[in-house]
Amino acid sequence: MTATKKDTVSFSPEQALLKQTTGAYPQTRLRRLRSQGWLRDMVAETKLDVTDLIWPAFVIEGENEAQAVSSMPGVERFTIDRLVREAEKAAHAGIPAIVLFPTTPEEKKTADGAESYNPFNLICRALQTLKAEYPDMGIITDVALDPYTTHGHDGLLEDGKILNDESVQILCKQALNQARAGTDIIAPSDMMDGRVGAIRQALDHEGFQDIAIMSYAAKYASCFYGPFRDAVGSNAALKGDKKTYQMNPANTDEALREVALDLQEGADMVMVKPGMPYLDIIHRIKSTFNAPTFAYQVSGEYAMLKIAAQQGCLDYEHALMESLLSFKRAGCDGILTYGALDIAKTLTQK
Ligand code: PBG
Repeated sequence: MTATKKDTVSFSPEQALLKQTTGAYPQTRLRRLRSQGWLRDMVAETKLDVTDLIWPAFVIEGENEAQAVSSMPGVERFTIDRLVREAEKAAHAGIPAIVLFPTTPEEKKTADGAESYNPFNLICRALQTLKAEYPDMGIITDVALDPYTTHGHDGLLEDGKILNDESVQILCKQALNQARAGTDIIAPSDMMDGRVGAIRQALDHEGFQDIAIMSYAAKYASCFYGPFRDAVGSNAALKGDKKTYQMNPANTDEALREVALDLQEGADMVMVKPGMPYLDIIHRIKSTFNAPTFAYQVSGEYAMLKIAAQQGCLDYEHALMESLLSFKRAGCDGILTYGALDIAKTLTQK
């Protein structure tokens, strides 16, 4: 008799062992370990810790001012002096790092985004002030030209095209400017080819070997960035979309290629962005490379949770916790989230 496919199925030693040790109902009742809170916590497979959180903060010029971001209820943009007070809250809550985004005054924006490498720009001043006040708080700075360009793109625009190599040169100047001002981590979010390697080389050349690179390796051309673009003021000006440099939401393999290249070029950590719609990408990246992997729960994701909660559709804190656990389950080492301070409070009260 010829062997059917079924006959040839074989179990791995691990699977065979599992079959022997797992009884069926009624010996096995999975509800036993769900019966009490302490027990559920004890056998929890993933845990969210305050040290997993990175808080993205928006900085504006001026004094003693906090401006609401209308598309992100609960999020404010702060002048540097006010940001210091917020950083104190974050430090007190145990949040290890802040990522800074500037709202550049319109009169300082140019086609080439030269303000990005002005040593006295808003980001450098915020960085220096925060570092002086809270030397132990990690500061991450974003590298991309969109907060500084009149056209709102992350790179140089010429005849309707985003120039790659010319943009990389300016991004290196921007990264060095932030390094000199004392940043801990450079996070290139521009998606130009070759920028991680070029930035690494530029940093090393000036003696900044210890500044780490957290690359936005798999950054998708997503509509979930809308509220962020309101917050930094790049929305109104943005001509066209970012599809020639940010990734197509249809792709997975390409994300692995992006990560492989960034790691090869010297990225210390990689990021997936947005977060919730891309959990499969996070999982695949973590299991393929085993490198420190982060997710950015972006502005639109935050707005979805917050506005749904305001409408009485769900409980904000529970929804936030559940969404952040999904990142941990998918394999994230850390998460950038606008809800960092909210969730830190919940975690420490527990
Ligand atoms: C810009 C940048 C963006 C975000 C972080 N850095 C927006 C964009 O690419 O247009 C989005 C963050 C968010 O939506 O919260 N390079």
